[in-house]
Amino acid sequence: MIPEILCKFGRMNHLISPSILTANFANLQKDIDMLNQSQADWIHVDVMDGVFVPNISFGFAVIKAIKQFAQKPLDVHLMIVDPDRYLEEFKNAGADGITVHYEACTHLNRTINKIKELGCRAGVALNPHTPVALLDDIIADLDLVLIMSVNPGFGAQKFLSNTYKKIADLKKLCALRNPELYIEIDGGVDAGNAAQLINTGANVLVAGNAVFSANDPSAAVATLKSIV
Ligand code: DX5
Ligand code: ZN
Repeated sequence: MIPEILCKFGRMNHLISPSILTANFANLQKDIDMLNQSQADWIHVDVMDGVFVPNISFGFAVIKAIKQFAQKPLDVHLMIVDPDRYLEEFKNAGADGITVHYEACTHLNRTINKIKELGCRAGVALNPHTPVALLDDIIADLDLVLIMSVNPGFGAQKFLSNTYKKIADLKKLCALRNPELYIEIDGGVDAGNAAQLINTGANVLVAGNAVFSANDPSAAVATLKSIV
């Protein structure tokens, strides 16, 4: 817990949240063990429903199986419509943090309150076309904002450089009303853009392809973690 607290106040390294979307689904336990031994801080879990995004990933049974072996918090990213229907089940499956999409929630304030009542860290994700300014009336209630740096749905896509501007906008928005906010970047993150993301204000980096397609995934996590 202490490293996370220090990080929030900018006195410690950023966090790394490897996405298991690109892991080996025939042997998830092996990849979870690798992450347990690595410098990963969280494990990013991408849930896709085939409606909000044009892809289907996995649901509760798989998250429960991951939770059995994971020694790091599960950072669950819901790319599903109307997530309110399932928040409790995701909590029960093992989610430590739950991030919902701004574009998928009609009553976002209610959704965020519900996630907090469940005892989870509450996050909101923004698609590439959604401006940060739309969070003006909810920024103080959030634990985390996830800026999508690709259009959600698939791993290994090309990073969108408009992300830097959005991080800067978010830093301004949260400066007075939520300076402890986690600013998480998701999509196309690698060792080539991580430094600029961190210097612009990101403090949590998600990485799927950059970790799991590497010859040595644990070393790839260490590289992302060591960037200053
Ligand atoms: C995309 C997912 C991401 C994705 C990141 O919809 O939310 O978490 O898996 O993967 P990479 O790092 O491969 O772009
Ligand atoms: Zn994600």
